[in-house]
Amino acid sequence: MSNSSSFKWNGTSLVLDAAWGDNGKGKIVDYLSPQADLVIRWAGGPNAGHTVNNEHGEFKFHLIPSGIFNTKCILADTVVVDLDILIHEIDELLSRGIPVSSKNLLISPDITMILDWHKKRDALIEVARGEKPIGTTRRGIGPAYADRTERIGLQIHHLFEKNFEKRFKKEFDWQTRLTKLMSGGVEKKPYDYDDILRRLKFARKRLEPMIQEVLPVIWKAHKEGKRILGEGAQGALLDIDLGTAPYVTSSHPTRAGFSAATGVYKINHVYAASRAYTARVGSGPFPTELKDEIGDHLVEVGHEYGTTTGRRRRCGWFDAVATYYGAHIAGATEIAITKLDVLDGLDEVKICVGYIFEGKKYGIGKIPTIKNRFLDHVTPIYKTMNGWSGSTKEARSFKNLPKNAQKYILELQKRLDKKICFVSVGPKREEMFSM
Ligand code: GDP
Ligand code: IMO
Ligand code: MG
Repeated sequence: MSNSSSFKWNGTSLVLDAAWGDNGKGKIVDYLSPQADLVIRWAGGPNAGHTVNNEHGEFKFHLIPSGIFNTKCILADTVVVDLDILIHEIDELLSRGIPVSSKNLLISPDITMILDWHKKRDALIEVARGEKPIGTTRRGIGPAYADRTERIGLQIHHLFEKNFEKRFKKEFDWQTRLTKLMSGGVEKKPYDYDDILRRLKFARKRLEPMIQEVLPVIWKAHKEGKRILGEGAQGALLDIDLGTAPYVTSSHPTRAGFSAATGVYKINHVYAASRAYTARVGSGPFPTELKDEIGDHLVEVGHEYGTTTGRRRRCGWFDAVATYYGAHIAGATEIAITKLDVLDGLDEVKICVGYIFEGKKYGIGKIPTIKNRFLDHVTPIYKTMNGWSGSTKEARSFKNLPKNAQKYILELQKRLDKKICFVSVGPKREEMFSM
């Protein structure tokens, strides 16, 4: 057992999220990245919000990998990027004295850009969903990935073509027509041609040195056995294919997604983050959600307000059934438990160890699917444990935790059937230990 930088990892390893996101990936990447030669972000876009709290202060990243303080970072092909947000983040880092240049940030030319029409379409589709919206971040994620899979849209390398303006005009006209149709004619002049083009030209000039082919860099590092850390976004239960569809995002926040993005298949460790309780933001099934004073306690003590949208996150007891499933589809090898401190002072704590669906019991690892059509109709079966009165915040090793907190961690480990390798007891980098 050790704390902070004394923890050693090697090869290519990933930090991703076993559940519905916001389980502290940014913090864990910040903790592990001092040893990394490369940090690679591969999933989603500015729907993510990753918080880092280290010696430089508190930072909330939507696109820039959380390893930026420590090492070279890469945005891989499969991230969708809003260049305005990216530039804003770079400027904020520079204004706080953190250098960002082609020395520590590379952007793949094959990234699909999120433009004004993607955000507009995201909002229009949410409204069209009527009473059952997904509760997207409205950052244009789904429409940008839709363009990518339809093999249309603008990618970063298009900015550097000789006839870029001609391509842009064609895209602008097509997207304008589409929006007018989708809005039933309500949107008369949805986009400002000159303004979007001006912003794109500005971004092109500003980011040009960082826009480089990334695969040779990744493959060289991998071949030389350098330490590569993949920074996951979202959470496995939000996976477009295996998540709680239709309440999911549009990417693959899993180990498979990392391999698809990088062509790297040999991965040593996959650390899957999970809070010591369960939470989600946006709509969708959530069997252990607490709509009582304990739920309020988790929201208030855990500061459970979305990093990207500020929305109140829904909180509940630890769902070992959903988290086991999430860790499985994520390809996790180990688990990192965060926010244990938020449970301090509760008289009892509960773990969901099974579901009842249509009168039948399903234990951990036994559910047929996590899709909404199943998960929205289950009743949780709980194991109740004693809470602990002391604080976990000061603990820097497992044996420093109150006895009942130790029992709780060991119970989670048993139920998830994976080694718990980190326990986090506060937002700061040093408020974590390995075990
Ligand atoms: P991410 O999207 O997985 O990177 O997570 P977010 O940054 O969206 O949300 C995690 C929130 O929990 C942030 O506000 C972190 O500062 C905070 N946090 C992380 N670990 C801990 C912890 O162990 N205890 C407490 N109290 N807060 C934590
Ligand atoms: P990080 O990386 C939590 C959720 C949204 C919504 C659904 C679809 O910070 O953990 P989208 O805008 O992606 O089309 O929304 O996915 N969602 C997240 N929830 N953390 C995230 O990222 C999320 N990214 C998307 O709230 O329910
Ligand atoms: Mg987040």
